[in-house]
Amino acid sequence: MFNGNHEYAAKDRLKDGTAVIVRAIKASDKDLLQQLMKDVSAESRYFRFFCAKKVLTSQELKYFTELDFDSHIGLIVSLCDKKETPIAVGRYITQTEDEVSGEGKAGAELALLVGEDYQRQGIGNILLDHLAQIAITKGVSEFVCYIMPENSKMLSFLRHSKYPTNRLKRSASVISMTVDLNSENKSA
Ligand SMILES: CC(C)(COP(=O)(O)OP(=O)(O)OC[C@H]1O[C@@H](n2cnc3c(N)ncnc32)[C@H](O)[C@@H]1OP(=O)(O)O)[C@@H](O)C(=O)NCCC(=O)NCCS
Repeated sequence: MFNGNHEYAAKDRLKDGTAVIVRAIKASDKDLLQQLMKDVSAESRYFRFFCAKKVLTSQELKYFTELDFDSHIGLIVSLCDKKETPIAVGRYITQTEDEVSGEGKAGAELALLVGEDYQRQGIGNILLDHLAQIAITKGVSEFVCYIMPENSKMLSFLRHSKYPTNRLKRSASVISMTVDLNSENKSA
């Protein structure tokens, strides 16, 4: 299905002033995604994919780049250089009501991956904001994140988000947290 979000593109700046492009992931981005996988640490890959993964298989690359931009939205952040160096990726995939908070909200699973050299530069929040803007126009009111209990970076990221968050449940291997997109009133 085609819709305008296939062409989503915006300029933004990191905290240190570096200019970046945030744009919709395309089918032709398979090499860029694979490069980002190589550039991030084993720990970041583990926290993102819940397993020790070095590269994406061709099936995964297809899944992560050939998006309908309806139920599955993906954005890539790149430097404004000739090579369009990839530094982060974020996506959401809509879920059924029961999979999210079960309170009748339209929800989607959120996943972020920021390259180590660019962490703490505001990219996580840039991606969250762009994804939230798209989500709201599509009637999605809540993101849910599945986080390993030892992933202190993501837990801190959500704790300091401008969006209200709520811890749904915790097991030995995963913490589920929701991000309420309808309000930005939480003091950071
Ligand atoms: C979690 C992650 C997405 C954060 O991305 P980021 O671009 O570094 O986040 P931001 O720069 O927007 O950080 C915003 C705030 O979150 C908190 N935060 C982010 N990283 C943190 C860290 N390492 N330690 C403590 N707080 C942190 C801080 O409050 C930060 O604001 P500050 O830098 O002004 O203090 C990134 O570390 C990452 O990709 N991790 C590996 C993959 C992963 O775990 N994905 C989540 C699976 S759903």
